[in-house]
Amino acid sequence: MERIRHTQAWAKLETLSTSVKRQHMRDWFASDPDRASRFTTAACGISLDYSKNRINNAVLEALFELAQQRNVSDKISAMFEGDIINTTENRAVLHTALRNFSGKPVIVDGKDVMPSVLATLEKMQAFTQRVQSGEHKGCTGKSIKKIVSIGIGGSFLGPKIVTEALKPYQNKALDVSFVANVDGCHIQDVLAKCDHEETLFVMSSKSFTTQETLQNTLTAKAWFLKQGANETDIAKHFVAVSSNVKAATEFGMEASNVFPMADWVGGRYSLWSAIGLPICLAIGFDNFKLVLQGAYEMDEHTRTAPYPSNLPVILAVLGVWYRNFMGAQSHVLLPYYHYLRGFPAYVQQLDMESNGKTTTLNGATVDHGTGPIIWGSEGTNGQHSFHQLIHQSNLPIPADFMFPLKVANQDDTHHAMLASNCFGQTQALMQGKTFEECYQDLAGQGLADEERTRLAAHKTMPGNKPSNTLLFEQLDPKTLGAMIAMYEHKVLIQGAIWDLNSFDQWGVELGKVLGNDVLDVIRGEKADTHLDASTAALIKRFNQEK
Ligand code: F6P
Repeated sequence: MERIRHTQAWAKLETLSTSVKRQHMRDWFASDPDRASRFTTAACGISLDYSKNRINNAVLEALFELAQQRNVSDKISAMFEGDIINTTENRAVLHTALRNFSGKPVIVDGKDVMPSVLATLEKMQAFTQRVQSGEHKGCTGKSIKKIVSIGIGGSFLGPKIVTEALKPYQNKALDVSFVANVDGCHIQDVLAKCDHEETLFVMSSKSFTTQETLQNTLTAKAWFLKQGANETDIAKHFVAVSSNVKAATEFGMEASNVFPMADWVGGRYSLWSAIGLPICLAIGFDNFKLVLQGAYEMDEHTRTAPYPSNLPVILAVLGVWYRNFMGAQSHVLLPYYHYLRGFPAYVQQLDMESNGKTTTLNGATVDHGTGPIIWGSEGTNGQHSFHQLIHQSNLPIPADFMFPLKVANQDDTHHAMLASNCFGQTQALMQGKTFEECYQDLAGQGLADEERTRLAAHKTMPGNKPSNTLLFEQLDPKTLGAMIAMYEHKVLIQGAIWDLNSFDQWGVELGKVLGNDVLDVIRGEKADTHLDASTAALIKRFNQEK
């Protein structure tokens, strides 16, 4: 693919950005009463108001042209059709097959994978049914009341945020905890609240080689046996999810207790697979299936909707506009919904592990920005923390606000306040407050003009800060599935525009290898002579404390 800077659309966008930087959204809204409605679209239960962005028709058209010139539609089709688009691991990328309700086959290496996808779903359904009904008994004949999900990265974040976001749909008889970090505090805190007779451990690791997950599972097993259980009881309380079934059984998992996943499911794209087993146990298989259904509907929307009404395409090209033409280096996610508080962390892995790269598919190095820093937290908390910077710093930080129009156990007073904060913030970011307005506000306070001018300068809000507002009727399983799939496709489309492989993660390998080497030195199994002085000193200090 030609270098992106050589495309016609890129040159057009560079010219347009010079002109846009001289304009203020405040003036666009004042002169165009139809702006909000023109830049609002909806699909799959999600409404996107993208009018508070630093765009006009010409910019949007040029962004869609860029997407076309970067063959975005071909990349979308290639993914859905099972082409080997993860070209460094020689794999297809088919998390979409996991939610393929079309009835059509999906061919990988000449074989339809749908029968195995459906067989795994049936296994998940049957197991969920047995546990939720109390039919599955533990080592002393008791039903399961506690699920401990052990996994990290995509084997943790997806199950955790979906379970958290769908709290109103959770089975009250089952309590689900998640353990990820190798910091022993995490698992000890969880085990301290467990009764081994009523606890089921779900160990999730696609590779079955992740140090944190293996160690946490060993600790859980040791704890379990220490409670008086014996080796034959383990099969009743430990199941595993992995693409490496052989390693799982060698680890001691009963073969019938291993839920398989295919290697063409990327970790950060895997909640739709058996990695979603903790979700099923928490909210029931039927609700999990609705999550899949919502994602499927977003898949169909993404494949078929023309760019101007295609939610993932719009979000993707807006991100490219800010990253490559408007100086943004990060993107903030602001879910104004407590149950979605984990969503920024989920998209952090989804986006940053996919597009935090600088090598294009043919091995060249990019000469432009690529994946942004993704961050954020639930609103309204951020307003009392980092919103100061978003409002008054000189860093352009595009924001995605998310708001459910209806919530379970809704309290109208609180919900109206939440809405007013969400919408008020997008308005303040867009229109700001001029020096003149601040100077006027300080009238009648007996201030000398110099002091009044000084204070007004501090109070001035530049505005022109871009935001998207995503509204959903309510965060039910289908809408959540659609929203997550929407962000998955946004990442795919941006990766296509930047010509990246969004589906490998070589950047995490070196840390793992060196970490294991440091561990050998800490344990005295290796000398430290090959280490830099800093790392050697840190290890020495650690060992002195022990
Ligand atoms: O962070 C690297 C990574 O491989 C992620 O992509 C993945 O989600 C996580 O580690 C856990 O991997 P696994 O599911 O193989 O334990």
